[in-house]
Amino acid sequence: MKVMILGPGRVGCTLALAHQKYGDETTLVGRRPGTWQRWARSAGMKTSLRIPTPKSTDVLLITVGDSDVSNLATQLSQVPTQLLVHVSGSLGLDVFPSSAEVPCAVLHPILSFGSPEGSVEDLTQACVSVAFTRSDHTWKSVLRAWGSAPLLLPAGLHRARYHAALCLASNHVTGALGQAESFLQEAGFSQEDTPPLLASLAHQTVQKFFQDGAANSLTGPLIRGDVPTLQAHLDALPKKKAEAYRQQLKALLPFAISTKRLTAGKIREIRQLLEDS
Ligand SMILES: NC(=O)c1ccc[n+]([C@@H]2O[C@H](COP(=O)([O-])OP(=O)(O)OC[C@H]3O[C@@H](n4cnc5c(N)ncnc54)[C@H](OP(=O)(O)O)[C@@H]3O)[C@@H](O)[C@H]2O)c1
Repeated sequence: MKVMILGPGRVGCTLALAHQKYGDETTLVGRRPGTWQRWARSAGMKTSLRIPTPKSTDVLLITVGDSDVSNLATQLSQVPTQLLVHVSGSLGLDVFPSSAEVPCAVLHPILSFGSPEGSVEDLTQACVSVAFTRSDHTWKSVLRAWGSAPLLLPAGLHRARYHAALCLASNHVTGALGQAESFLQEAGFSQEDTPPLLASLAHQTVQKFFQDGAANSLTGPLIRGDVPTLQAHLDALPKKKAEAYRQQLKALLPFAISTKRLTAGKIREIRQLLEDS
């Protein structure tokens, strides 16, 4: 297959590497020179700084940032190709103009991308959510090159909610772990000691969540209704961090309430603590 990928960022470079390894003729296109050019050439790909006239390209992949997807989708929608794809989770098929002459698809890898060499392996374990305008099967060939499993989206999917949920499960978990790391270092742990300590706890927590569900996995002072301990946490933190921690406790409270372990009086006390600033 001949594949052209527009946008040499984290996702574009990873997908380009996947296609190149699969044996596809791969061209990576950027809008300005950069280290990506040497990287792509050393991996055996072609590179370009402008969109070449893709007379005989089978697949065009748009991997630019979300705010640039719509412009490129419109620009490329009349180009003769078997499939025009974007990979954004927050945007749907509606960014492709209705006048598009080519089949279009959204192939959203449900993965947090890092370096291309690492992410290309992760991609083989990932699901890719699929939406398409015409029942053309080229998207299946694309997914074979990525090594990923397809996830057909439910009819009437609310895309913004879907994307917000995935951001919570990846970026917000990363943010919470980063926060925990900084609290531990402020408590006296060295930088080297924090990762092993957090890794075992975080792995066990994720496992428990999938085994027992959110409400049954919660432990700690919130679910025990231990207001003095929560107060001590808030008092020990600098103002901004205390405020962030307070907001997270507020988000957890409905799960704690759903376990029915908190009395009405305790819930009132906790709410009062979380409202005080
Ligand atoms: N990151 C993830 O984990 C992840 C996961 C799933 C899906 N996605 C989706 O993947 C897409 C790309 O995300 P990303 O994280 O890879 O973003 P990124 O790292 O910011 O990469 C975007 C790349 O596109 C280039 N670009 C912008 N406009 C261009 C144009 N007109 N022509 C050619 N290149 C252009 C940018 O180059 P400049 O340096 O010139 O700006 C940059 O290299 C987004 O739609 C995102 O929603 C991301």
